[in-house]
Amino acid sequence: FSCRDRVLPLDGVNILITAGPTREPVDPVRYFSNHSSGKMGYAIAEEASLLGAKVTLISGPTNLQPPQTVQTIFVESAQQMYDEVMTHYPATNVVIKSAAVADYRPKKVSATKMKKHVDTLNIEMERTTDILKELGQNKTHQLLVGFAAETNSVEEYALKKLKAKNLDLIVANNVTTEGAGFGTDTNIVTIYDRNEGKVELPLMSKREVARKLLDRITHLLKGVNL
Ligand code: CTP
Ligand code: CA
Repeated sequence: FSCRDRVLPLDGVNILITAGPTREPVDPVRYFSNHSSGKMGYAIAEEASLLGAKVTLISGPTNLQPPQTVQTIFVESAQQMYDEVMTHYPATNVVIKSAAVADYRPKKVSATKMKKHVDTLNIEMERTTDILKELGQNKTHQLLVGFAAETNSVEEYALKKLKAKNLDLIVANNVTTEGAGFGTDTNIVTIYDRNEGKVELPLMSKREVARKLLDRITHLLKGVNL
């Protein structure tokens, strides 16, 4: 019996994880973004890899070091993230979309630095593609896991997203709660499934949240809905 022969729970499973914010440029020196640190997604990538999964991490700009055992692809805009996700989707078993994707981007990107001429600046924004919704519409065999970062009516919004995007699980949190959400090393989440089952987790490290989520996914993959 050697270490190499050990069967790990996610051996042979291809997991695609997105993490971090996106950046939507308005000119060569400026962009619109959000407060996502990427910590939740990187923690999931690391844990999944430890559990034996083959992990592809598609990451927006973060200050984090990606785990060495993980194939990491860096992107900036929502469109770039969309393109990479779609390329990898067919060969993927599980998608975990923890990235905070911009919902809007500037309609026009100036080729040169914008100068300050006017007192009030209006920038017209257009919708980005909803990557996860697109995945849900094109689901063949994949298990889809979304995130919902909310400030209010968490359960209502999370369940709406679960259905609208054809997800298997959604991990919801209230980003205004102390110890949860952007930038912290801890999180307080509730995991909802398609049968309106919910598991409320207490305050724990993002690492532990990752582990709980991956345990749940492992059982779902076995067809056992715990
Ligand atoms: N998501 C995505 N592509 C987008 C926007 C969101 O794939 N353009 C994914 C996120 O990665 C997350 C889930 O959809 O897993 C929910 O994101 P969230 O911002 O909470 O919800 P939205 O559907 O964008 O709705 P809203 O921001 O209005 O609450
Ligand atoms: Ca959004």
